Amino acid sequence: MKNATTPNHAKQNIAIQATLENVDCRDGMKQLKENVVSLILTDPPYFIDGMGDDWDTQKLKKRVKPGVIGSLPAGMKFSVKQGRELQKFLTPVAHEWMRVIRPGGFCLVFSQNRLGHRTAITLEDAGFEIRDVLMWRYEGQAKAFSQDHFIRKRKIATEEKDRLLQKLGGRKTPQLKPQGEMIILAQAPREGTFVDNWDKWETGLIDVNNPVINPTQFPGTVIQSKKPKERYGHMTAKPVDLLQHLIRIFSAPRALVLDAFAGSGSTGVAAILEGRNFIGYEIEPEMATRAQERIKAALHEQQSPNIIM
Ligand SMILES: C[S@@+](CC[C@H](N)C(=O)[O-])C[C@H]1O[C@@H](n2cnc3c(N)ncnc32)[C@H](O)[C@@H]1O
Repeated sequence: MKNATTPNHAKQNIAIQATLENVDCRDGMKQLKENVVSLILTDPPYFIDGMGDDWDTQKLKKRVKPGVIGSLPAGMKFSVKQGRELQKFLTPVAHEWMRVIRPGGFCLVFSQNRLGHRTAITLEDAGFEIRDVLMWRYEGQAKAFSQDHFIRKRKIATEEKDRLLQKLGGRKTPQLKPQGEMIILAQAPREGTFVDNWDKWETGLIDVNNPVINPTQFPGTVIQSKKPKERYGHMTAKPVDLLQHLIRIFSAPRALVLDAFAGSGSTGVAAILEGRNFIGYEIEPEMATRAQERIKAALHEQQSPNIIM
């Protein structure tokens, strides 16, 4: 049984290596050799309205918060184009993941629920096997939008407004309260049996002995974790305990974990806390600096004998 507070690498006094590069992951990953990564755990850009692969936090705040487009809050305008753009963007990335991942290695990709099918198809087309869909369970805020305001603003007779208001009966735009986010669980094809693959690559099997979340229960596909209070300047920072939970189950101690879209560096921090090596890429300079600082602090905290940035 692993000790949750003292990672194996610390006990053995072996250096953990963590690198966060401020580059486009499509360039950065080209420097990696084949079959070097044991686990990909990543959270790509969202491709909802106004959010593509560019991620300027200040611009995003302006674009996503105020305003209304087509009777929807800005940032919630849905179109089929967004999914197609996400797929187009992720396709070369997923092929690179397939090249660098070890046989049997897992690839866990967060996805907006309504874009998850695009993520899954992209991974499958790149050669991964889709094994499951996990759900990060949290309590979100209801975002459905009343139409009453738009009816009242119409330049029509009061009787007509009243008729419409009554007919709609308080109905809202089609968004139930968000309570979870999908994580597509894919796996690179194994080499031979589970045993042979593990013996050679230390991938392809899961560790259910001492899960981080709900340690007394067999880990399931729905994983509850609160949205983090501290987001390190990132709108979509993920909870570190959730990432630790996934890393512990889906990789071996000292394995190399890759996050191609590192954001504020949460996956890097989680990997270090779990005694795994880490490589991450973040395209936005300000965010990359924050991620590097977090990762450095985590290495210090873990008293890793060697800090490599
Ligand atoms: C959804 S966020 C990740 C948030 C992260 N999980 C966290 O906890 O902070 C996606 C990140 O990918 C970055 N990004 C977008 N395109 C990229 C690219 N081509 N290469 C590297 N990073 C990219 C964005 O700047 C953004 O910070």
